[in-house]
Amino acid sequence: MTDPQQLTDQAQTAIAACGDEVTLEQLRVRFLGQKGAVAELLRSLPELPASQRRDFGKAVNDAKSAIDKALTERRELLHQAALTARLQAERVDVTLPGRGEEPGGLHPISRTLMRIEALFRGIGFDVEEGPEIEDDFHNFGALNIPADHPARAMHDTFYLPSGLLLRTHTSPVQIRALQRQAPPVQLIAPGRVYRRDSDLTHTPMFHQVEGLMVDEGVSFAHLKGVLVDFLRRFFDRDDLPIRFRPSFFPFTEPSAEADIGCVICQGEGCRVCKHTGWLEVLGCGMVHPNVLRNVGVDAERYTGFAFGMGVERLAMLQYRIGDLRLFFDNDLRFLRQFR
Ligand code: DAH
Repeated sequence: MTDPQQLTDQAQTAIAACGDEVTLEQLRVRFLGQKGAVAELLRSLPELPASQRRDFGKAVNDAKSAIDKALTERRELLHQAALTARLQAERVDVTLPGRGEEPGGLHPISRTLMRIEALFRGIGFDVEEGPEIEDDFHNFGALNIPADHPARAMHDTFYLPSGLLLRTHTSPVQIRALQRQAPPVQLIAPGRVYRRDSDLTHTPMFHQVEGLMVDEGVSFAHLKGVLVDFLRRFFDRDDLPIRFRPSFFPFTEPSAEADIGCVICQGEGCRVCKHTGWLEVLGCGMVHPNVLRNVGVDAERYTGFAFGMGVERLAMLQYRIGDLRLFFDNDLRFLRQFR
């Protein structure tokens, strides 16, 4: 017959050497199970002489608790070790970049705006902004567009219930700038403008860049110099043909529109230039003396030039984009090409 103490030693050795919870369970069955070693010892009790039964019974019970304790401790240890191993294996490194991360890109309109700004900053122009919600005075009146002027009809204005309006052009920034600071002034004003217009070639919101230079002795020659230089740099072509055509704007006198030789067909004639070989890219002129007077600038002493251009149009020509609506659809297949 096995000695309970010997059985305890044997069990403790096996338990201490056990490396996983499944084997440990097998050990428990082997020693403490209904048909296990301890149960077997107890079953042999009746075979002993009555005088030894008490001591033997106690020894078996001691063995049982000792083995039970060893099992519990080992189980706890293995459980902790398994947990630690799992935490190690499944650890998330929060400093790693996320999966599926894709670099974004600037919208082509943003890129074109940045290019225009960089070119004008380079020749000493400031970049200013004005409010998109304007009043009648800044958007029209001060720009020499009185209430009954037919030019207002061309602007398809969005009016707000308050009587304010969404600016129809960036020209009101000229007024705000001259109200705030005395000449010399040289600035561009990029921003969103709004018109009640929506078809193949018009969207209710689009972008313009306004330009203004006011000082003593500013002439049409300065206007031409600045704009020819800008357009050639923007399109990256020293020999880009440029012409100024007489035009009309209430806030400039004389007024002109600038055309560039068609960058699509190089002047041969195509659909984009409507077979004229020329593309209109901006409006400009010498600031009307009335505009200077409206903001309290001495029109005898100071002269200035101004210009305004459509950013979508320049971006379409720069990137050869055939459809204005692509800018606003936010189709990733389109936008990804500008990353
Ligand atoms: N504000 C004009 C428009 O929206 C563009 C423009 C033309 C601005 C001539 C100017 C200018 O400053 O001199 O169509």
